[in-house]
Parts: sequence; C-alpha cells; structure tokens
Amino acid sequence: SKQQIGVVGLAVMGKNLAWNIESRGFSVAVYNRSAEKVDDMLAESEGKQIYGTYSLEEFVESLESPRKIMLMVKAGAATDATISSLLPLLDKGDILIDGGNTFYQDTIRRNKELSTHGIHFIGTGVSGGEEGALTGPSIMPGGQKEAYELVAPIFDEISAKVNGEACSTYIGSDGAGHYVKMVHNGIEYADMQLIAESYFIMKNVLGLSADDLHEVFAEWNKGELDSYLIEITADIFKKKDTETGKPMVDVILDKAGQKGTGKWTSQSALDLGTPLPIITESVFARFISAIKDERVKASKVLSGPTPVVPEGDKKEVIEAIRRALYMSKIAAYAQGFAQMKAASEEYNWDLKFGEIARIFRGGCIIRAQFLQKITDAYDRDPALMNLMIDDYFKDIVESYQSALRDVIALAVKNGVPVPGFSTALSYYDSYRTESLPANLIQAQRDYFGAHTYQRVDKEGTFHTEWMED
Ligand code: 6PG
Repeated sequence: SKQQIGVVGLAVMGKNLAWNIESRGFSVAVYNRSAEKVDDMLAESEGKQIYGTYSLEEFVESLESPRKIMLMVKAGAATDATISSLLPLLDKGDILIDGGNTFYQDTIRRNKELSTHGIHFIGTGVSGGEEGALTGPSIMPGGQKEAYELVAPIFDEISAKVNGEACSTYIGSDGAGHYVKMVHNGIEYADMQLIAESYFIMKNVLGLSADDLHEVFAEWNKGELDSYLIEITADIFKKKDTETGKPMVDVILDKAGQKGTGKWTSQSALDLGTPLPIITESVFARFISAIKDERVKASKVLSGPTPVVPEGDKKEVIEAIRRALYMSKIAAYAQGFAQMKAASEEYNWDLKFGEIARIFRGGCIIRAQFLQKITDAYDRDPALMNLMIDDYFKDIVESYQSALRDVIALAVKNGVPVPGFSTALSYYDSYRTESLPANLIQAQRDYFGAHTYQRVDKEGTFHTEWMED
C-alpha cells in the first residue's frame, strides 16, 4: 500500500516533522539526497510507519495520489533544485509543500510556475524550532485553497493545540503563509531585543545578578508577559557554565547572529512604505552587536555619562521596566500586524488577523497569552486600523507610557542603549500626534526641488517661489 505523505530533506526539522506526522497515525515516506540520512532515520524509527526511499523515483512511486510532498530542504537554491528534479515525476493535481523559512517572493514565483504544470504549491511557515516540529508547531500554510483542503487534516493533527484548537489555519494564496512566518520572525526579533534591553538595564543600572534576573523573569511570566520567550529567559539565567561555574549568559559572546528573516521583514516594510521601526531597530541592534571588534576599540576612546542612581526602590523600578517592556511589545505587534495589513492589500491575500494571532498562541516561538488579546481585538473589529487603538490595548499603552518614559530616561542618563524601547515610544508619540513636523520637510523639498506640497486649508497641489524676495 502507498504512503499518505512524503517528506524530502531529513535534517532535524524534516526528521522531527516526519515523526510528528507519523505519530498522529499517518504513514510517511522519507527521502534525503544523501542515503546515509535515510539509513540513520530508519535506524531511529523502529516500529514506526516510516518508509525509507533511496531515489526520488522510488519516493514519488511510494505515495498515494494526489501526492502530498513536504519539502524540508534548505531555503533558496536547494529548494529550486529539489523542485526541478521532482517535477518530471509528478502528476497533475499533486501537491508540493515547502515547509522551510523561504522568502515569500520565491514562494509566489514557484506557486505560479508550478501551477502552469498543474501542480499545487503550498508555502507554509512552520514555527516552534526542533521541539515544536516534533511535538506540535504553529503552521501557516499559503497556496491554492483546494490543495490546502487536502492537507488540512494532517496539518490540524500535527500542529500545537490551544484549548483544543489547532494552531494551523489557511493563511491565503501563494506567498501568504511564508509572508506571515517572516513577520512572525520579525516580531520574534523585536520581542528578543526588548527582553534583552530589560535585562541590560536591570543588570547595569540596578545591579541585579543572574539569580535575581531569574527570579524577576519567572515572576513576570506569571502575569501579562506570560510567554515562551520570557519563560526561556528565566531558565537561561539559572544555567551555570560547567567549566567556570559562572552564569552561562556571562560566558556567551555578545555578538548576535541572524539568518535573514528579520531583515526581510524590514525590507518589505521599506518596499510597502509602512513604519516598522521596532523590528528594524532589532535587526540593526544585532548588526551593531556583531561589530564587536569595533566596539571594543571604541570603548577605549568614547566615554558615557556619569551614572545616575534611580529614584524609588528597586521593586518600583523593576515594575516600571516590566510595564515598559509590555507597552513596547504591544507597539511592536501593532507594527507587525499593520505591515501584514498593508501586505494583504498589496498582494490580495485577504489575511485574517484574528486567525493569525490565534494560531500564534501555541507552538511558535512568539507564543504568549497576550495573543488571545489580539484575537479578541480583531473579533471586535476585523478592520482594526492599528492594535494600539483597540480598547484593551489603548488602556494599557495609556497607563504604561509614563513607565516607558521613565525607563528610557533612566537608561539614557546611564548611557545604557535602549534602541527598542526608544523607538517604541517614538512610534507611540508619532502615531498619536495629529500634526508632525513634516510640514517643514515639505517646505524644504519644495524650496530646493520644487517638489510641491499640499495645504492645510484647501485642496490642491502648491508650489512657492521661495527665493522671490
Ligand atoms: C521559529 C524560529 C525559527 C528560527 C529562526 C531564527 O519560528 O521556529 O523563528 O524559524 O529559529 O530562523 O532566526 P535567526 O537565526 O535569524 O535569529
């Protein structure tokens, strides 16, 4: 008998996803370019319905029709190469599913190309890391709706569940799933940056130890900030280096890596003309961390301010930092969701934002209690202009803004960099300001380049002869 689904690419994500699918009662054929990986997987899969194959022909032959083939290969050229080798072996109506961290424009292109051959192409975000892939990720599929319907039973089964609901839903046509996954990762960058800034102030201004920080984050995880990233942060501060006995965080070099999904989110913001400063600052913060050698040299040349002792007791300052973090987090999600709105209009995806927040509640890296609040906000108003004007979020940002201002001031006075916090506040202040100084920018543009401007008091396009008298 034939297998119900196939997985190509048996690196850790592919392997774990295949086991996850198998564990829900589906039979799975697997293939990898190097046969060794197939052998290894079979050796670890005793008693499981995992069917190893050693050529693409054998793999494709082993699958029931219409074939459902999940590609878990490296995003980019490797995905194109795998698709070209598979294509001659497939029949009309077969479904290729790309579960990698693929650039959404590639997914749009592949979807178009493959549909000319009668092959369906689903580009799906899969979040949750290795563990999530094995036990229940958050799944964001985009592509032909009719093809999605055929794989939906599998996706629903293997995804994470929150209150019995699957963290998987149809996102939209062609590149929509990968776009949403990309924004998820951008938001992930912002969440991580804001947490890192909170840590840095508490360490450098309040003098908290790793053990203290463990306590603080563990406590925060019981409230509004309850989330996977806060939980693992609490854990991280507990971990000691086995060699030196020091806290692990203190022996890890402060150079952040990145594989590009955050950068793509910012690039898309620039293309769409939507403000995404918190995620973008988070990408830049990783870049500035990466020029460690320069920073080491500059630290010998450039000095900061004389430290200032915070007013109020430590507990109050920690609570202010918690509020600053939550408010900035809200602003970051407001930006990410506003960008998805712009993209949805640009690419005709008809994204359902409440649904997206719903499937983010479990399985993925940014999973959090707080996402339910976003779903609720879009339930109240599916066309919501910006999350910050929703009733729930409006109350929070209004009452937490003074804490964010105080925390930024404290950091600034102590020379502790807070790019994420600062830009979150500037976003809030810009967004709530009826008149910005862009009138002056328009005057300057018109002065030096006759770029024209609009007036506040009547319709039309105007130009002034600035140098007349
Ligand atoms: C996920 C993660 C996953 C991966 C990121 C890390 O949702 O499971 O986002 O996709 O860990 O690619 O990204 P950086 O390497 O760019 O930090």
